[in-house]
Amino acid sequence: MSIIKELESNLKDYIKKAGYDEENIILTESNRKDLGDYQLNDAMKLAKIYHESPVAIANKIMDQLKDCEYLEDLNIAGPGFINFRLSEKYLLDALNRQNESIYENIDMQESKNIVLDYGGPNVAKALHVGHLRSANIGQGLKNLAKTLGYNVISDVHLGDYGRPLGLVILEIKKRYPDLKFFDESYKGDYKEVELPITNKDLEQLYPIASQKSKEDEEYLEEAREITTKMQRHERGYYDIWQRIIEISKNDVKKIYEELNINFELWEGESDAAEFIPELLTKFEQNNLIEESNGAKIVNVKTEEDNSPMPPLLLVKSNDSVSYETTDLAAILERQEKFNPDEIWYCVDNRQKLHFDQVFRAAHLAHLVNNDTKLEFVGFGTMNGKDGKPFKTRDGGVLKLNDLIELVTTETEKRISSNIDSETERMEIARQVAISSLKYTDLLPYRETDYVFEIEKFADMEGKTGPYLLYSTMRMKSLLRKSLTDKYEDSKVLTSNTEKDIVLTLLRLPIILEKSLNNKSLNDIAEYLYKLTSLYNKFYSENKVLTEEDSVKKSSWLTLTKVVYETNTMLLNILGIKVPDKM
Ligand code: ARG
Repeated sequence: MSIIKELESNLKDYIKKAGYDEENIILTESNRKDLGDYQLNDAMKLAKIYHESPVAIANKIMDQLKDCEYLEDLNIAGPGFINFRLSEKYLLDALNRQNESIYENIDMQESKNIVLDYGGPNVAKALHVGHLRSANIGQGLKNLAKTLGYNVISDVHLGDYGRPLGLVILEIKKRYPDLKFFDESYKGDYKEVELPITNKDLEQLYPIASQKSKEDEEYLEEAREITTKMQRHERGYYDIWQRIIEISKNDVKKIYEELNINFELWEGESDAAEFIPELLTKFEQNNLIEESNGAKIVNVKTEEDNSPMPPLLLVKSNDSVSYETTDLAAILERQEKFNPDEIWYCVDNRQKLHFDQVFRAAHLAHLVNNDTKLEFVGFGTMNGKDGKPFKTRDGGVLKLNDLIELVTTETEKRISSNIDSETERMEIARQVAISSLKYTDLLPYRETDYVFEIEKFADMEGKTGPYLLYSTMRMKSLLRKSLTDKYEDSKVLTSNTEKDIVLTLLRLPIILEKSLNNKSLNDIAEYLYKLTSLYNKFYSENKVLTEEDSVKKSSWLTLTKVVYETNTMLLNILGIKVPDKM
């Protein structure tokens, strides 16, 4: 159990001794630091239950607390707030417990099986900044949930089965009509047929094909037909589709690796497709299907809805399947393979309605247990200065690779001039740029939109990724230079800064739990900054390595080690790698 939870449970016992039963005590950090470090705010709540005045209750509780040897400066403020500080001995014990292991100060959660769906890149389309958000937030949530004891399986859920693929295949057909993939008389093995297309080509083909389909009804119809052929695994079309997936997937894997993003499962919409027949049977058995102009739809509206809730499109009139269908099939597949307690979807807020429909339909058709939680973990957009989703000068979406390159160029200008080799400089700049991007993206609450400003991403000081990396690297180097490999128990806290650091460390389990509840990493990002700046204050106030008082020196090294380990753990949760130099 974390130290703060232990403290709460001890305080509860004192409150009980005073004659009051309190299940969840209200302990907060004081916002009046002159009065105390902590505030116990239960008297106000107990007053309503026990019909006594809050001050009288606070006094009775305080009488008991006086016996507690590690509480100091006890006082009552206002209508009954009890303020106190923790003794130096208590804080040292707390620090030394974390010296044994920082996990001593973490509250593990009741174990759960989670399937986490994030990333969601689309095959044959360039990754854009929205895919960064999904991957970045999703990965952070996965790391967090795992750290707190959940069992998490993540799935990239590639968009590989819809019309965009049909469009790309059509455009290839127009350009290379003689390719064997389109030759019905070809009987050979498609694996031997060359496909003269790279991932770069694919990324260019899609926008062209998409534009054509908007202007030319015949072209669109042809793309629809190809989509159906591919979904029906028709020879030639299915084979070229497979090859496109392969090219695209390899490229996506490379970029995710660079971003420190990883998945247990590399499945796509198409993998769920084999569950579609079973899916349709379930919908039929539950009498949920209605016909509408040749399509199969499911009504998911309820009496309570007061905003529009359109029916879900299960099978289109030309028999091809929709985005809803593959998501439902994926739920069925996940249920059968993993029996999860919860499935989380880290997707752009603008897809909320889609998931509302899908979740309702999944429960109506009993694809999952009644108590399986399907949760939409939506995020806001990165906007331009006009407050609308960011667009490049030519009106397109910003590609992820372009974004990384922009930030790398800016970062390169600012990193240490001691790195001579041009290639090494660029490599480090890119790594630092990625960390900056990731950290800046995690700073706001996930649902909040934020404005794209290149300066904000490339900034090296203040609340930024590079500042955290640089400071953490400096802690590491201090520990290395101390030539210590055994960190003795800390024996003194020589300043208020050190005390503040320990108090901040005690807050960690609350931050982690809150982040998990909110499914947002902003509190962790803020906390990292807070802890790091406090440590840097301490660092500038003291010369650790040259300190002659050996008790002070070893206590400071222990403090440094605990902060360093905490920072590393939290940066790991955020999916941010600490470089060796910058
Ligand atoms: N590929 C989709 C897109 O780019 C996101 C996929 C989200 N996950 C899901 N299970 N639908 O919009």
